[in-house]
Amino acid sequence: MKREVIECSGGKHIGKKVSKHLKVSYSKLKVKKFPDKELYVKLPPEKKLKGKKVILVQSFHGENLNEKIVETLFAFYTAKDLGAGKVELFSPYFPYFRQDRRFNPGEVVSIKVISKLFKDFDKIYFIDPHLHRIKNLDEIFKNGKKLTSVNIIADYLKKKKIKDEVFVGPDVESEQWAKQVADKLGEESTILKKERYGDRKVKIKFSGGVEVKNKTVIILDDIISTGHTMLETIKSIKKYKPKEIYCVAIHGIFADKKQLDKLKKNAKVISTNTIPTKAANIDISSLAKKIK
Ligand code: R5P
Repeated sequence: MKREVIECSGGKHIGKKVSKHLKVSYSKLKVKKFPDKELYVKLPPEKKLKGKKVILVQSFHGENLNEKIVETLFAFYTAKDLGAGKVELFSPYFPYFRQDRRFNPGEVVSIKVISKLFKDFDKIYFIDPHLHRIKNLDEIFKNGKKLTSVNIIADYLKKKKIKDEVFVGPDVESEQWAKQVADKLGEESTILKKERYGDRKVKIKFSGGVEVKNKTVIILDDIISTGHTMLETIKSIKKYKPKEIYCVAIHGIFADKKQLDKLKKNAKVISTNTIPTKAANIDISSLAKKIK
C-alpha cells in the first residue's frame, strides 16, 4: 500500500524528517480557528489519499495540547472518509499517560478515556510512553506499538566521549530508561526514590549506590515537565561534589518556562526532539523507519 505522511500542527518540527526516513510523499494538515474558536481542519485532496496508508504525525505538546487531540481525531476520521486504506498515528509525544490511576476518589483515569478516543486508529506508534502502573501498552492501546529512543540516546552520549560518567534515575519509573542507557554504555547506574507531594513539590534523596564525587553525573528521566524532579535530584547530588551534571530527558515539556533556565544554571540540559524546544538536541525521527 502506498503511504502518505501528513504533518499535523504538533508535528511541524519532525513531519518532513519522518517522510524522508520513510521515503514517501508528505503533506501538511491545514489547521485554523474560526472566530468562535472552533477548529477548522483540512486534509490534502481525496485523490492524494485514496487507497493509501496515511500516517499522521502529531506530537501533543504546548498550550493547545487538548485541541491537538480534537484536530487529530478530525484528521483521522476525514482521512477514512476520503478513502484512505489505513490511517495510523506516529506520535513522538503522547499525553495523559501519567494519570493512569484514580489517586483520589472521583478522579478521571485520563489515559483510559483517551485510549477510547483513539481506538479506531489502525496503529499508533508511541515513543517511550510513560508506562508505570500500567505495565504493558496493550492493556490500554490494543492498536499501540511502543518505540524507544534508548539506543539513540546512548549513541548520542557515546559520541560526546564523556569520561567517568555515572547514571542516575530520579525515581523508580526512570529505571527503564536510565539503567538501559547506562548498561548499553557499560556504565554504572543507580535509581533514587521520589516522594511527590504536589505538581511542583517532590522530595528526592540521593541514596548512594554509585560514587558521584568527581564524576560526570547523567540524570536521565523520560519527562521533564515543571523541572522540579530534576532540580531536586541535582540538589541531592551536588552535596557529594560531582564534576559535572547533565539532565537528559526524552520528552522535554518544560511546562514552567523559567525552570529550563534554572536547570541550565545547574546542569547541561538535553532532550530528544519529541517536543521542539531549545534543549531538543537528540533527533529521534529515524524511529519512523520502524513504521511497517
Ligand atoms: C513521572 O514520574 C515522570 O517520570 C517525571 O519524573 C515527571 O513527569 C517529572 O515531572 P516534573 O518535571 O514536573 O517534576
